Amino acid sequence: MNPERTTTIPRENRAKPQLTLRLSLGEPNIIEQKAYGEELRIIGPRNDPFYDWPTSLVGHVRRKSRQLMPSDDHPMIWNATPHTIAKIEMLSAYLTAWFQILGRTMRGKDLIYIDGFAGPGEYINHPDGSPIAAIKAAMTARSNSHASWQANSIHCAFIEVDPDRYSNLLNRIEPYDNRLGLHLHSVRGTFVNGLPRLQAQLPSLSSGNPCFVFIDPFGATGVPFSVVAAILSNPTSEVLINLDADGIARVMRASTNAANATTMDSIFGDASWRSIHDRHLRFQGESRAVLDLYRSKLRALPDVDYTFPFEMRSQSGTLNYFLVFASQHHRGLEKMKEAMRQIDNSGAYCFSDAHSEESRLFHFDNPEDYARQTFDTFQGQTVPYAAVRDYVLNETPLISPKKILKQLEDERQLHVVGAGAGRRRGTFADDHIASISIIFHPEWTVRPSENEEAPQMQSLFEGLL
Ligand SMILES: C[S@@+](CC[C@H](N)C(=O)[O-])C[C@H]1O[C@@H](n2cnc3c(N)ncnc32)[C@H](O)[C@@H]1O
Repeated sequence: MNPERTTTIPRENRAKPQLTLRLSLGEPNIIEQKAYGEELRIIGPRNDPFYDWPTSLVGHVRRKSRQLMPSDDHPMIWNATPHTIAKIEMLSAYLTAWFQILGRTMRGKDLIYIDGFAGPGEYINHPDGSPIAAIKAAMTARSNSHASWQANSIHCAFIEVDPDRYSNLLNRIEPYDNRLGLHLHSVRGTFVNGLPRLQAQLPSLSSGNPCFVFIDPFGATGVPFSVVAAILSNPTSEVLINLDADGIARVMRASTNAANATTMDSIFGDASWRSIHDRHLRFQGESRAVLDLYRSKLRALPDVDYTFPFEMRSQSGTLNYFLVFASQHHRGLEKMKEAMRQIDNSGAYCFSDAHSEESRLFHFDNPEDYARQTFDTFQGQTVPYAAVRDYVLNETPLISPKKILKQLEDERQLHVVGAGAGRRRGTFADDHIASISIIFHPEWTVRPSENEEAPQMQSLFEGLL
């Protein structure tokens, strides 16, 4: 085995690797692997950037890395960090709501959960990996629903590339198969190759049934944007993606290497990432720009109007990855933000291993902090209520726009029309929302004193109407 340099990543751009291992595995498959104290990351083999290796190669690399690495390597099952447990809790909270809401409304439809990077189904220190958490969420929703259940069956499907983890997973899920109308499916292979094989096993996957896909790889690669786009082309699909933004930024910095450039094209679906690369940002800014670009690519997909990130930080406080949710329905994002807030109720949508026991004193979600931002976005426009709701959902920590709208209306920065007679100022009843339009004042006005405000503002809006 000849150690060989494959990519040149400036030392200052590396997130303190404890150990870097470079292996030449015979042209053209050259990989670079690093131990980051808590995670093994694979930057990507040349000409095969999506970690789609033969099992023997995966096994070989893992054995090799075990020899050289401290206990933070990932053996067949490993210890979950606090952020891993938080991730699973968030998934579980969301899926319980997802199965329950859709189960009670989607008459005759199958509900499908796909875990694209399923893992072994358990951790040394935590009984449930994401597959078991999803199964339990489905069973809870099903048994809570009794006669109100309208949907057809629930299908939970798992894809895992590693043979040992796959066989452990099969043992873990087997007791749940065919209980409470739950059907389990599994494929040993890569996410990319496993999806079409899953489709062959599960024809209802391509028939417009609601589908939630959890995409949770180690590291930056393995998830071509084209596959995410194909999943989201089903109008009732949603995804939760572990986006290793700093790993992606690192690959981007090494993109003079053609294989890394190909990897980047695949992650984003085109060469738009080069606009970040050309800005020569500092590393943290680059990771944030990766997230922003990825969200904008998702939002550019037809009908994918809702995306939101949750940030995971490591023990040292540095960015570990973002969990990015994408949905085609506002209800999905409302429920996901509620699930995220069960993990971090401060409104920062961030979990840090360093502070996993602490609750934050500072709150980041006071409506008054977002009123001006919302006003500036819509200043001078007349928009339906839904436009403000979508903006607040996507761009602020808040789940509902109502408190912001109330404050702006109290301050006479906007005017509400279409709500019908009898509406009290500052209230936005759910049954009126669909017919409401909001006229935002053309300029921010300093709040007038009580006795002069009403007549002035009235005449201003009369001019607009
Ligand atoms: C972060 S772990 C998944 C953890 C799991 N989602 C959980 O929360 O319990 C990533 C898993 O993906 C597997 N894996 C790596 N590359 C893969 C690929 N291309 N396709 C499918 N699985 C892959 C690894 O063997 C590992 O078990």
